[in-house]
Amino acid sequence: MASSTALSPAITPSQLCSGKNGMNSTSHVALAKCVNNKRMKVSCMATSVPADDRVPDMGKRQLMNLLLLGAISLPSGGMLLPYTYFFVPPGGRGAGGGTVAKDALGNDVIAEVWLQNHGPGDRTLTQGLKGDPTYLVVENDRTLATYGINAVCTHLGCVVPWNAAENKFICPCHGSQYNNQGRVVRGPAPLSLALAHADIDDGKVVFVPWVETDFRTGENPWWA
Ligand code: FES
Repeated sequence: MASSTALSPAITPSQLCSGKNGMNSTSHVALAKCVNNKRMKVSCMATSVPADDRVPDMGKRQLMNLLLLGAISLPSGGMLLPYTYFFVPPGGRGAGGGTVAKDALGNDVIAEVWLQNHGPGDRTLTQGLKGDPTYLVVENDRTLATYGINAVCTHLGCVVPWNAAENKFICPCHGSQYNNQGRVVRGPAPLSLALAHADIDDGKVVFVPWVETDFRTGENPWWA
């Protein structure tokens, strides 16, 4: 639809084609022409578009929603993976929810192989729950003890070495001493070394949190 009109110089073409002059606000100026330097002849092409036509149809909106969902989901999923790996590291959990012990080289501890290389009375560090250094204990009958001893000193957190000659764990930092099961026998350490169950699952040694009574003291475990 096209329309034309003459107007006084006080009215500009843009005003004419704006809503202020009563014309459709969606009209666009197509041609403005000066006549006799005083009057203008303006032609406007009315190209009003129904409001409904400017809204994307349902198919396009659904496509946009899917694209938006994908754009949000991909980075969110990427951020969740590290958290999942932290709490459930692949291959790091035993069937019962424990943590497979690792040797000094980071390999899974195979009970049979371990006992071939570690004699009675041996206490050697492995990587235990939450990565804590944990002693595997070989009993005098050449079997693995059913508990592991956390090597973190309960005084200020030094790793306590095993002293075979003294048959004790002796902390090099401030001299605390623990017996061969990790029970504190001399301060300043206030508590015994923490325990973990040392189970064997599919041939591998698996540490499981110890939440029962501490068999060394008859008390509830302070670390649970
Ligand atoms: S950290 Fe072991 S005695 Fe102080």
